[in-house]
Amino acid sequence: MQTPRTDAGPAAPSAPPLLAASRLSPVAGAEIVGLDLSRPLSPELKDAILEAFIEHHVLVFRDQDLSPEAQTQFTLNFGPLEQHVGRLSDGSRYPDVHRVTNLDDAGRPTKTPHTHGNYFWHTDKSYHDIPSLATLLHAVQIPPSGGDTQFANMHLAYDALSEAQKRDLEGLRAIHSWEASRRNTGNKPATEEQKRERPPVSHPVVRTHPVTGRKSLYLGMHTSHIEGMPQAEGKALLDSLLEQATRPEFVYTHQWRRGDLVMWDNRSLLHRALANYEMDQHPRVLHRTVVRGTKPV
Ligand SMILES: [Fe+2]
Repeated sequence: MQTPRTDAGPAAPSAPPLLAASRLSPVAGAEIVGLDLSRPLSPELKDAILEAFIEHHVLVFRDQDLSPEAQTQFTLNFGPLEQHVGRLSDGSRYPDVHRVTNLDDAGRPTKTPHTHGNYFWHTDKSYHDIPSLATLLHAVQIPPSGGDTQFANMHLAYDALSEAQKRDLEGLRAIHSWEASRRNTGNKPATEEQKRERPPVSHPVVRTHPVTGRKSLYLGMHTSHIEGMPQAEGKALLDSLLEQATRPEFVYTHQWRRGDLVMWDNRSLLHRALANYEMDQHPRVLHRTVVRGTKPV
C-alpha cells in the first residue's frame, strides 16, 4: 500500500510553457518572442504553435532571421505549399517563396507596383476550389512607418449578424474567380490561359472552421456574385456584407517590425495591406509562403 505524503513543502515548479503568446488585440493576433523558427520544431512546440494559431488567428513571431529555405521548412510544418496563379513581369511563375514588394523591376520603390490586389479585403486564393489555410509573411524590409496589414475577424462579423440575416444567408454560395478578382481590383485583366487554368468556383457564404466548428463569413475581392441570384442583387449583397464585416471593431491592424514572421488563418479572417506610407520612397519587401487548405464547407 502506498504511504500518503505528509510533507507540505512547496510544490515542484511546473515546466515553463513552450510558447508565451501575448494577445495583441481583442479581435485577433498574438505576439511570440524568443523563438528561432529557423530551427526544426519539436512535435510539442509545433502543437503549441497550432493551438495558439487556432485561438488567435494571427501569430506574430518577432525577430526572425529566415532564409527563403528556412521559411519553406517552417511552413511545411503546417501542410503542403500552395502554388501561385500569378506571373512575374517576365511571365514566369512565382516561386514557392515569393516577394510581396513595392519595388519595380529595376529595384526602385514605386506607387504602382506589379500588382495591387492586396490592398483590397480578401482571403487568400478563395478563387481556388481548395483555398489557402495559412499565409506566412516575413518582413525583410519595411518602411520607417506605415505599410500596415489589417485583419478582419470573420467569426466576430458572423456572430454580429442579426438572426434574420443569418437565416437569409443559410445555404447561399458565392462565386469566386481570378477573373472577378482582377476586375474588382482594377488590375490587368486575367488572360485566357489564366481563366482556363482557374475557372470560377463556388463556396458557401457562411463557412464552418474545420477545427473549431465556428461559423464565419467567407467573402472578399475574389467574389463576383451569388449562385442562383441575379448578378447585381448578389453583388450588392456581397458588398453590403463586406462593409459590415470589416467595421473597425472587427479589425486588427498589424504594424510591421523588421524580422516579423506573421502567420494567419485564411479560414477565419479577411486581410488587406494599407498604402499608408510613401510608397515611392521606401522599400517594403515581405517573403510569402502559403499553406494549402481544405474545401470550405
Ligand atoms: Fe493576401
